[in-house]
Amino acid sequence: MLPVYLIFGSVYGTAEMVATETLSIFENNGLAASILDESNWHLIEGEAAFVAIITSTTGAGDLPENIEKFYQHYSKSEAGLLKKISYSVLALGDSSYGNTFCMAGKRLDALLGELNATRIKDLTMIDACEVFDPMEAAAPWAEKISSILADELIAEGSL
Ligand SMILES: Cc1cc2nc3c(=O)[nH]c(=O)nc-3n(C[C@H](O)[C@H](O)[C@H](O)COP(=O)(O)O)c2cc1C
Repeated sequence: MLPVYLIFGSVYGTAEMVATETLSIFENNGLAASILDESNWHLIEGEAAFVAIITSTTGAGDLPENIEKFYQHYSKSEAGLLKKISYSVLALGDSSYGNTFCMAGKRLDALLGELNATRIKDLTMIDACEVFDPMEAAAPWAEKISSILADELIAEGSL
């Protein structure tokens, strides 16, 4: 079965909470999902997998420290290293920050595209000014991803 990996970037824990709840949604939908950290990012290299990136934005459009390391690491990687992965980015932000709204998610979405990974759902942005509970917006995103992946797995005979 296609492995499903979640990688999150979080400063105060909101994106981490969303990642944990998204993991449950994926598991409840029968997907083989796990959350990766720096020690096992390498699992996404060279193999077919789906990668869900869930990140907040900090500072003035900056990436949270844990996922900034991911960005730096893979922005220097050899071309083609991530070409077998499919991905979708869920960005948490706050539109009161103006033109840096969800910048971390936008940068990660662009990076994976540049690395020839396949985006299976457009960047989804959650605005803290509009949604009190980010899972209100994250749950439909996770369900949509689950159904896209289930269709792919059925097509390849793995489900
Ligand atoms: C110091 C600080 C700086 C922030 N800068 C931005 C920003 O530049 N752009 C944005 O969209 N959101 C920004 N935010 C909003 C956070 O991304 C948002 O509150 C998010 O839900 C926090 O998630 P976390 O708890 O996982 O870090 C900022 C929040 C804080 C506290």
